[in-house]
Amino acid sequence: MSAPIVVDNVAALRAQIRNWRRDGLKVALVPTMGALHDGHISLVKIALEEAERCVVSIFVNPTQFAPTEDLDKYPRQLARDLDRLREAGAHLAYTPGVADMYPAGFATKISVGGPSAGLETDFRPTFFDGVATVVAKLFLQAAPDCAVFGEKDYQQLCVVRQLCRDLDLPVEIIGAPTVRDSHGLAMSSRNAYLSEAERGVARKLNVVLRQTAAELASGADEASAVGEAAEALVRAGFRKVDYVAAREAVTLAPWRQDRDGRLLAAAWLGTTRLIDNVEIPGA
Ligand code: PAF
Repeated sequence: MSAPIVVDNVAALRAQIRNWRRDGLKVALVPTMGALHDGHISLVKIALEEAERCVVSIFVNPTQFAPTEDLDKYPRQLARDLDRLREAGAHLAYTPGVADMYPAGFATKISVGGPSAGLETDFRPTFFDGVATVVAKLFLQAAPDCAVFGEKDYQQLCVVRQLCRDLDLPVEIIGAPTVRDSHGLAMSSRNAYLSEAERGVARKLNVVLRQTAAELASGADEASAVGEAAEALVRAGFRKVDYVAAREAVTLAPWRQDRDGRLLAAAWLGTTRLIDNVEIPGA
């Protein structure tokens, strides 16, 4: 595969995409913060099935990190990322700097309601404003036909869908299944923070979620099932559970037994916060 074109500014990005459009090519965008793993590569593969050209943005977006979070230590490994993108066949890597995305005087924020309520927002109150603002900017910069987001960040996927619906952004949002290691641990750039022993504990997150989702699907009481799931995670070695919650799959409103649902969780392993989610099949 040939190396992706690398551009670090919006003028060059638009010029390249204009050329492709002139040739009648469909363009897909995969927004990322870099530190690419197999989960991201699966998004690129889906993008390449959907469109003739795949753009991957790599931008560690400061506005979605709270001051107490891991912005400074978030893994940055551009050379390795570009190798992975070449192997995967992506056509362009867009790597803007912070000053390109947020020049001095930048003063706009997009705040999505609906599915952003609760869950992550209870613990990271400014997170989705940062995500929605940067995703809207990326969509307006690249003007892709479609964009691929992982189901691993399930609430983010729902928020991005809502953003596009509400602002009439003409981008088809494609949700991609979570990629897991052979023990069920969801791929995440933050897994790089885990020791080998912590990885063993981290794998329990998906095990507990799958068990609990099966119980809910077969009629277990929701409050006791999610309470027991949180206790099981602490017993397994998680330091703190932020939430285990059952939600309606599309709106993220409270789940009803007869509806397709999603069971979502966030929990801390030492200083690393992990999230995961699984389907709760409807009756
Ligand atoms: O999922 C991520 O990596 C980020 O939240 C995103 C969508 C690239 C926005 O910065």
